[in-house]
Amino acid sequence: MRLRVDLLPHGTYPDVVLVIDVLRATTTAITYLERGADALLLTATPDVALALRSEGMRQDGARPDGESTPYLLGGERGGLPIPGFDFGNSPVEAAAQNFTGRTVVMNTTNGTVAAHTAAQSGKHVFLAALTNAHAAARRARATATEEIAIVCAGTDERVGLEDVYAAGVLAEYLLAMGESSIDDGARIALTVRRSSGNPLEALGSSVHGARLASLGLGEDVRYAAGLSTSTLVPTLVTGDDVPPGTL
Ligand code: MLT
Repeated sequence: MRLRVDLLPHGTYPDVVLVIDVLRATTTAITYLERGADALLLTATPDVALALRSEGMRQDGARPDGESTPYLLGGERGGLPIPGFDFGNSPVEAAAQNFTGRTVVMNTTNGTVAAHTAAQSGKHVFLAALTNAHAAARRARATATEEIAIVCAGTDERVGLEDVYAAGVLAEYLLAMGESSIDDGARIALTVRRSSGNPLEALGSSVHGARLASLGLGEDVRYAAGLSTSTLVPTLVTGDDVPPGTL
């Protein structure tokens, strides 16, 4: 088994992909599902998300697929909610809601873009964060036949310490589960994990973690640092089963 870490999403992926955007898209996606959401739709742009809500709604609020509840939209630009969306991209905000029976449409600056990149070639694409790290590692190990690629979303096309740290946590779990060859990206991630303290220290010292704190979103950083608090592993479905432009 090969284990590789891409510090930014840029490659093609022959097998299993674990997409990481710890601050905050994958942490928030896991939380939506923890709070009962039936499904998530990850769009490439905010317009696709807004169109899904408007096109998807009949006058009576029902949708063509017969569901009676409208889509909910969550996402951010620059860490702040997108105008017209129901929610931002805060896992703490999501954890306070009940999403039972709802579909949440997500669009974010980095995380949903990374997921779309991975889905272009990956056979099995899962969303990972610190909050589901052990479960995500188990699912990847049980699914892969040749390679596990851990893809860090980064922030604004720059490497993010928080994602590389989480990749190191996942790499440690995966190496403990069985033999793997590792690439230089995985070595870097393991070094970052072993030299950056505990999860909250690592996330708090990252550029994006500090920016979120400056926006008054420090509780999101603390929430995202919760190691393996969830066993849910969001699995991307592509193709005819999902609306165009979504995963
Ligand atoms: C993203 O997906 O771009 C990040 O999660 C940004 C954020 O939510 O602050």
